[in-house]
Amino acid sequence: MTALVMTVTETLRYRGAIGQWSWVLHRITGLGVVLFLTLHVIDTSWAVFYPEKYVEAIATYQSPLFTLGEFGLIACVIYHAINGLRIALLDNRPHLWQYQQRAAYIVLAITGIILIPVFILMFSHVLEFYNSGEPFLPLADVLAGQVPFIGGFAAAAIAALLYSVIHGVIAGDTESKAVGRHSGSSVERFWWSFMRISGLLIVPLVFGHLAMMHILQGVFDITAQGHTVVGTGGIVNQSGTAVEFVANRWNLLVGGVAIWRIYDFLLLALVVLHGFNGLRYVLTDYTMSSPLLRRASVYLCVIAGVTLLALGTGALLGTIDQTAIEMAQEAAASLHP
Ligand code: HEM
Ligand code: HEM
Repeated sequence: MTALVMTVTETLRYRGAIGQWSWVLHRITGLGVVLFLTLHVIDTSWAVFYPEKYVEAIATYQSPLFTLGEFGLIACVIYHAINGLRIALLDNRPHLWQYQQRAAYIVLAITGIILIPVFILMFSHVLEFYNSGEPFLPLADVLAGQVPFIGGFAAAAIAALLYSVIHGVIAGDTESKAVGRHSGSSVERFWWSFMRISGLLIVPLVFGHLAMMHILQGVFDITAQGHTVVGTGGIVNQSGTAVEFVANRWNLLVGGVAIWRIYDFLLLALVVLHGFNGLRYVLTDYTMSSPLLRRASVYLCVIAGVTLLALGTGALLGTIDQTAIEMAQEAAASLHP
């Protein structure tokens, strides 16, 4: 905690260097995307395991609050990706280090240049929806839907603390260093390289995913009846439910291969490992002085990462049949009676 307070005060006190601010921004945007990803993988799994709940989750994405958040999310992903590429490139090119400051400004400029047309296209989808007079979920329902997630986060944090206490009792607190971060260890060198290589691989995957969900179509088109489902070569969403949208994409076979399931699996594996290892970096930075909390931070990232990987993979291996689509239709009808 003291470390966190010190980072905040020192960042505010230390004026002038853009490098400091780009580090802060990279950290905040990474954390924002990890938070969204956690909710997103859980609710995407409902398309298979809990179709009625998936209808609610997508209705939440289509509410004004989440529409605002969607613009913030896209800005975070784009800044973090471009800045991440700068870090990966400059780390391997010491002769370019003298240009760090200029590179940080270039990252901001490229982010702006990408964001302007992207926001205009996203805004056109948003405008079309709100002009159509279609109903949307009231704010109170949207907020109530987030409460179980807070409970889930608290449960994961308590489990991580308990594991840390047990670990401390069995191994003794001096052993705590074994779960910290030691830049010299071969394990940490692996993760250092992993963050850079996975970042490079994530760029086309996550940009492709966001282009499909926000530009080629809008978030509102996920539930548009009679609308062609993006990436399926013309398959139509007959029921106009989010569950059929996912079914049409995941059941599509190209040469016998379920291309969108494989695509989503690669995206899932890379973003979860990258995102939760990044979260470990952040949490362990701020818990240096407490072996108990430092171990708990590592356990928290492992518990959350493994749970999301298992849930996301389970959904990708599951089937979405006609019954699930009918359940979703009923749920959608009762959402806006
Ligand atoms: C508001 C923005 C987003 C929307 C509307 C959206 C929408 C969707 C939808 C409809 C699916 C279902 C599968 C499919 O049709 O391919 C899906 C799956 C997925 N999305 Fe997104 N997505 C968004 C942002 C993101 C971001 C920023 C990431 C990465 C950080 C991401 C990662 C994933 C992953 C990993 C899956 C597969 C989950 C699983 O295996 O269960 N999505 N997304
Ligand atoms: C889109 C492509 C991406 C690229 C090129 C990228 C690149 C990077 C790089 C190079 C680092 C620095 C690692 C280090 O300091 O050792 C990093 C850190 C991080 N990334 Fe990403 N990343 C990407 C996507 C994501 C996504 C989708 C998430 C969330 C799911 C994420 C979350 C984080 C977090 C939390 C950190 C730690 C930040 C810190 O230590 O201050 N990144 N990223």
